[in-house]
Amino acid sequence: MNAIPTSATLDHSTTVTGLRTQYPRDLIGVPATAVRLSWQVDSTTPGSVQVAYEIEASDAPSFTTTIATSGPTPSPAAIAVAAPASPTASRQSLYYRVRIATEAGWTGWSPVASVESGLTDPTDWSAVAIGVDSVVSGPSPLLRTDFVAREKPVKARLYASSLGINEIELNGAKVGADHLAPGWTSYNDRVVVTTFDVTDQVVAGANAIGATLADGWYRGRLGWEDKDSLYGSELALIAQLELTYGDGSVETIVTNTEWTASWGEVTSSGIYDGTDFDFSLAQPGWSSAGFDASHWSPVREIALEKRTLDPAISNGVREIATFPMQPLGQVLDAGQNIAGWVRLVVRGKKGDTVVVRHAEVLEPDGSLHTRSLRGARAQDHYILATDGEVTLESNYTFHGFRYADVTGAELVSATAVAISSAVSERGRFESSESVLNRLHANVQWSQRDNFVSVPTDCPQRDERMGWTGDAQAFAMTASTLFDTETFWESWLVDLELDQADDGGVAAVVPNILTEKSFLVRGEETDIMGRAGWADAATIVPWSLYESIGTTLPLERQLSSMRRWIGYLVARRGTDGLLPTEFQFGDWLDPDAPGSAPWEAKVSSDFVSNAFFVHSARILARAEELVGDATLAAGYDALAAEVATATWVRWGSHAITTQTGCALALEFTIAPDSERDAITQALADNVNAEDGRIATGFLGTPLVLHALSNAGKLDEAYRMLLRRELPSWLYQVDMGATTVWERWDALQADGSIHPGNMDNKDDAHMLSFNHYAYGAVIDWVYRVLGGLAPTSDAPGYVRTVVAPRPVTGIDWASTSVETSLGRLSLDWAIVSGEFQATLEVPFGVTAAVSLPVTGGSRVSVGGVESGAEFDLGHGTYSLVVTEPSIAVRTH
Ligand code: BGC
Repeated sequence: MNAIPTSATLDHSTTVTGLRTQYPRDLIGVPATAVRLSWQVDSTTPGSVQVAYEIEASDAPSFTTTIATSGPTPSPAAIAVAAPASPTASRQSLYYRVRIATEAGWTGWSPVASVESGLTDPTDWSAVAIGVDSVVSGPSPLLRTDFVAREKPVKARLYASSLGINEIELNGAKVGADHLAPGWTSYNDRVVVTTFDVTDQVVAGANAIGATLADGWYRGRLGWEDKDSLYGSELALIAQLELTYGDGSVETIVTNTEWTASWGEVTSSGIYDGTDFDFSLAQPGWSSAGFDASHWSPVREIALEKRTLDPAISNGVREIATFPMQPLGQVLDAGQNIAGWVRLVVRGKKGDTVVVRHAEVLEPDGSLHTRSLRGARAQDHYILATDGEVTLESNYTFHGFRYADVTGAELVSATAVAISSAVSERGRFESSESVLNRLHANVQWSQRDNFVSVPTDCPQRDERMGWTGDAQAFAMTASTLFDTETFWESWLVDLELDQADDGGVAAVVPNILTEKSFLVRGEETDIMGRAGWADAATIVPWSLYESIGTTLPLERQLSSMRRWIGYLVARRGTDGLLPTEFQFGDWLDPDAPGSAPWEAKVSSDFVSNAFFVHSARILARAEELVGDATLAAGYDALAAEVATATWVRWGSHAITTQTGCALALEFTIAPDSERDAITQALADNVNAEDGRIATGFLGTPLVLHALSNAGKLDEAYRMLLRRELPSWLYQVDMGATTVWERWDALQADGSIHPGNMDNKDDAHMLSFNHYAYGAVIDWVYRVLGGLAPTSDAPGYVRTVVAPRPVTGIDWASTSVETSLGRLSLDWAIVSGEFQATLEVPFGVTAAVSLPVTGGSRVSVGGVESGAEFDLGHGTYSLVVTEPSIAVRTH
């Protein structure tokens, strides 16, 4: 590393353009834990690099006093760097700025980033949780109080959470933009607190605050077993409003037994069933000052353990898009399968009941297909209170749908409202292959629709649970497509909270299942510790590390990962392998019986041991990075031992299936000497089957990588670009706007898969919105797009730029908003030449590997070059004559 220039030496060609903490920009009220900072830099000096940074922390944005500094610190790091000071208690605001040194000198200070802690200690709550008697699926309680602000406060913070869903209003207006707050967590141990800046909403003089409570995940019906009240039977609100006046004095308004309660227009609500409104019961103005609440009833204190109150680290669920719905025969069509609800305008009469029903697809006769909703009613009902035109919009629920029908009044207009926790796009991809672009868009939508507070399997039926297998399969793609860092981190907290004493990780997080939940041929199954599901404990943190470049998830999850491997170690038999027991296995292998999706071609014993190896190796790497380096060798040795025994036992079987080959290669189960033979077996399989995908949830994310990493590009594209059933593009051709759960959800003749399952009489397992198979998009970014992060220098700090074109795709344009800035590659085949523009942000090294043949000539910015080289920040034009282009079959 170069010497650090003296403070007085300035680099005028370089600017720190952005600084952020690990939290979403608009999130306040975070925990009092270590803050990490990441920054972005612009420089006009080619080849310049960061040799040092200096971070200052202050208690004011003006930086009049510096309360801590890192001092000039020699380091190239610019992602998730420890701040020199972090909040240590509640209600602390800290401000940060950074400057960096290149070999030419120091930059000016960056823009300021800030952090504000919430209520981080149970004793900071003077509020108590309050509520009234109410019944499951019954009317929603309203809670309110009046208060006087002696003058307009200079700062007002509202800290709020609830058992059940809350929607808070202050002086007649909704507070914040979140829906379904406080989201779904392992409520017995963790209830998330949201902090709102309500300075603008509080007025001098009379004010009022109120909240509507609804069952949500806390008390409503949850899971397919017809159970409710899984976490508790009483809804409650806890809120603390702190007003700071100009003289520095603070006044606090809290939920207590002086609040009063009543009922409003929500007569019933449920996540699966939808919401019923009777507007004749509305109490206009109930959350405004001056409302006459003399007829309201007293509230009572509800038990809530304050130790469970946990400041938010991620944003809540927001409205993200709207789609005007068009009439299509007897129904309405949003044109896009979403999670959300319909906002509609109707013209009706007092007493009319308007019913909105939802469905993902239509029956051949044009009516809504509702069978796959199983036990979810998925309807909103509205009883009108007036004659004439009225706007209706649901809440306290969500539906997975593209189509809807409306009965009961004349429809004026309808808009589908999409909600999600996945808000900021990180990856973009477009190419000359429109069907592939649509697949990419479908995967983005399946992510949006299933990132509703937790990563769910699907948003429409009586399930919508955080299946860990789906999550690990999709984690890498998810982090490429959207900024999901804190979404995952929040969910991983619950994964650990729901981990059993023996280290077993649940099949769904938050966990609401028991052994009785999942019957196979009438037998109970153990849903803890299932291979490829429980491995989310290691795979999700690792994918975040690779994609974002932060070690934070590894640090936080280290003990969870160790306990997970401990669970596996304890189950090894005398042969050193895991025992035969029920596994979900390569779930939904297209060759498994439709009604028994766990009966994949590849042995579940091979799969479970292969995942054991993979997870042990991830833990070894995590130990080296953030844990006890001396343990790493032990985990590596364990992995090697299990891999050897696994291959001896199942190698000859594994090589007969796509998933078996993919696991053997990608998880390095097979010895090096056999890799070529396995690659050939996989390629032969793919060619013999004309690219037919033959993998389930566990093999699908790996199979194209297994091919292309071994140079079998023709075969990888043969699978990716196949149009016939089963394939990724078949569903696009069939009109899909999200990714299906089953490859054949819609049959070629347009009929709908029956979705039968043998583990429950009426279990129709058929969703048109499951992201697991969308994991292929990770391959599209890395290989066709040409942008691949590496785990040696994660967060794209070292990016492998190795685009591999295929005949018939003339151009592709790919970008990722990395922690260090925008990284993009646009390539096109023009007159037989490969021509590309590569944009590399400051701090990133592009390890370029161009698609060359023996006859190629390569140039970079017009200067002749080899095919493999490293580039620092800047924008480059790359040309390859006579490029190597994979051969397209489909
Ligand atoms: C879910 C899946 C999940 C599976 C495991 C299904 O019902 O929808 O996505 O991983 O069960 O058994």
